[in-house]
Amino acid sequence: MADMDGLKTGNTGAIDDSKDFHVGVPAGKTNFHVKGMDNVDWGMKDRLSRIFNPKSGNTLMLAFDHGYIMGATTGLERLDIIIPQLAEDIDVFMGTRGGIRTCVPPTFNKPVALRINAGSTVLSADVNKEVNGVDIEDAIRMNVSCLACQSFLGTDEERQSLKNLSDAINAGNRYGIPTMGVTAVGKNMVRSPKFFLLATRVLAELGAHIIKTYYCEGFEKIVAACPVPIVIAGGKVLPPDQALTMAYHAICDGANGVDMGRNIFQADDPKAMAKAVRMIVHEGATDKEAYEFYLDTKKK
Ligand code: 5RP
Repeated sequence: MADMDGLKTGNTGAIDDSKDFHVGVPAGKTNFHVKGMDNVDWGMKDRLSRIFNPKSGNTLMLAFDHGYIMGATTGLERLDIIIPQLAEDIDVFMGTRGGIRTCVPPTFNKPVALRINAGSTVLSADVNKEVNGVDIEDAIRMNVSCLACQSFLGTDEERQSLKNLSDAINAGNRYGIPTMGVTAVGKNMVRSPKFFLLATRVLAELGAHIIKTYYCEGFEKIVAACPVPIVIAGGKVLPPDQALTMAYHAICDGANGVDMGRNIFQADDPKAMAKAVRMIVHEGATDKEAYEFYLDTKKK
């Protein structure tokens, strides 16, 4: 590969200005509202339409899968209490099979993005030694709308984690279940625009139908270069105005939604925060409008 050396060593900085991503030129679409998904089967389109609202084209996923690595993390001490409180304000439950089966009533009838990884915890030397812990049959039994599987690019576990993703995509494709590829960032991993540009494209080319990644500088180029929808991860807790600004910029730059956890469930008022994020994702609100709403709505 011609510029392989440059790629290998150059993933720590900004995205090269000389590249033309045709930012602003929409991806070719025919009759379906989800980017790059014109040619998938009816069942997969049905699941993707449960995730991505056909009117706005976007999604608000609530990420509460943290327990499979961290245990009872702050804000998620009781999934059975917090998740039902937020259910009406979000579009998709993103969690583990254990968390969802035990604490989320199936009568909510919301789409599920099922975290399928297993193998490491915060007690491990590093959290990247993972396998796929969930069989496709169990995902089908839970009627999930997508699988969520993370990859650790640039680490010793890169090969295994890309195999995990490929296995998930192969199994999901057999039954019309899309896979969300998550660009994981471990303790010692690079988090640069160039890294996310590479990682999002690699996961999409391996066949992931949705990409979850982090917002960064040059995000509009990352979105343009990625042939499938991108949703942003929330990441560490920010002051609410900053979290809303991040979500707003991501949507303005072409993201099709957010998969946010701690910035919602660790907010002073998680429900008001979920509603404020929703305004940005679905209603075209600015970050300022959403923050004013949050301040007005949050419990005094
Ligand atoms: C990492 C993940 C996490 O498990 C989780 O979903 C993160 O949510 P947040 O950072 O918003 O608390 O998918 O990419």
